[in-house]
Amino acid sequence: MTAPVKTAKKPNTDNGTRRRKVLGIVEESSQRLTPGELRKRLLGNTFVDEKAIKTAIRDLILSRELKYTYHLGCSFLEKSYEKPTRVSKRVVLKPPGMVYESSSGDIVIDISKGASFGFGDHPTTRLAIQGIEAALSENHGILKADNGRALDIGTGSGVLAIAAVLMGIKRAVGIDIDACARDEAQKNIQLNGLEHRINILDTGVEDIKETYSLITANLRYPTLKRLCSHIAGITQKKGAVVVSGIKSDEVEDLVNDFSKFHFTCTWNKFEKDWIGIVLNHSGSKVQGLTASTSQVKGVRIQQHVLLYQ
Ligand SMILES: C[S@@+](CC[C@H](N)C(=O)[O-])C[C@H]1O[C@@H](n2cnc3c(N)ncnc32)[C@H](O)[C@@H]1O
Repeated sequence: MTAPVKTAKKPNTDNGTRRRKVLGIVEESSQRLTPGELRKRLLGNTFVDEKAIKTAIRDLILSRELKYTYHLGCSFLEKSYEKPTRVSKRVVLKPPGMVYESSSGDIVIDISKGASFGFGDHPTTRLAIQGIEAALSENHGILKADNGRALDIGTGSGVLAIAAVLMGIKRAVGIDIDACARDEAQKNIQLNGLEHRINILDTGVEDIKETYSLITANLRYPTLKRLCSHIAGITQKKGAVVVSGIKSDEVEDLVNDFSKFHFTCTWNKFEKDWIGIVLNHSGSKVQGLTASTSQVKGVRIQQHVLLYQ
């Protein structure tokens, strides 16, 4: 009697599995991958030959799930957001004109791809949207407040202001230092029929004196650190600040800065090397905001000091 021949376990190589594998590797990579780097990673996986890899990549490009991008003379394969894409439990971003069959509870936002930031193709935008969702589902006071208003600092495409309003915030204001972003944000607000609820202003953050129950800020760490005391001063009692745009090694310092103004971090999420956080105000009443100006190494520093009850 002959012993049964042991065969190596056949890898699962149907095209659907291959495509999911390719997408998974692209999504999980902390850096953009060139086609060569992607192939190298795939060959060490369940893929058996170059031809199968090429077919899977070609299919993903045809179905607009992957796209070629060019940076500094190098081509890369990246996930494409030029089709309806779910970016949080409830929010789906889509290019205008594309059809998306939504399920109940979905919030579908039309966003035109322009020069400004906020098309959904960057982790910081997605984290900020997830942060707004978390802030509004866990802190119902924000939505119940009669003056439930949001301020979106660095609005870019306007996507966060639009998302906040569609999640239940009554009115929102978006500001941006960039005129092109303000123009594109206005167009996206019109696309979504929200002109009556969102205003885009050419106003500096420091000139904003009204208070808001929700503030969103997808900005880089030095800007957030500089604006921390002012943002704290214009956040309503028990309101929330959604922060994105920071790296994991910057978060502790920023949370510490906000804690000086009675904020605690109630939510956080990582994507690649980025982190989004929600900071909730404890409820100690801010009585006022005073400004003092000092000089450090020739640099004029204006510091806002909050007075608590
Ligand atoms: C990373 S983008 C965020 C865009 C969008 N909010 C999003 O989440 O996708 C940052 C935006 O902030 C703007 N910006 C940078 N510094 C700013 C400041 N001090 N005040 C207002 N806007 C600022 C930039 O012009 C840019 O449009």
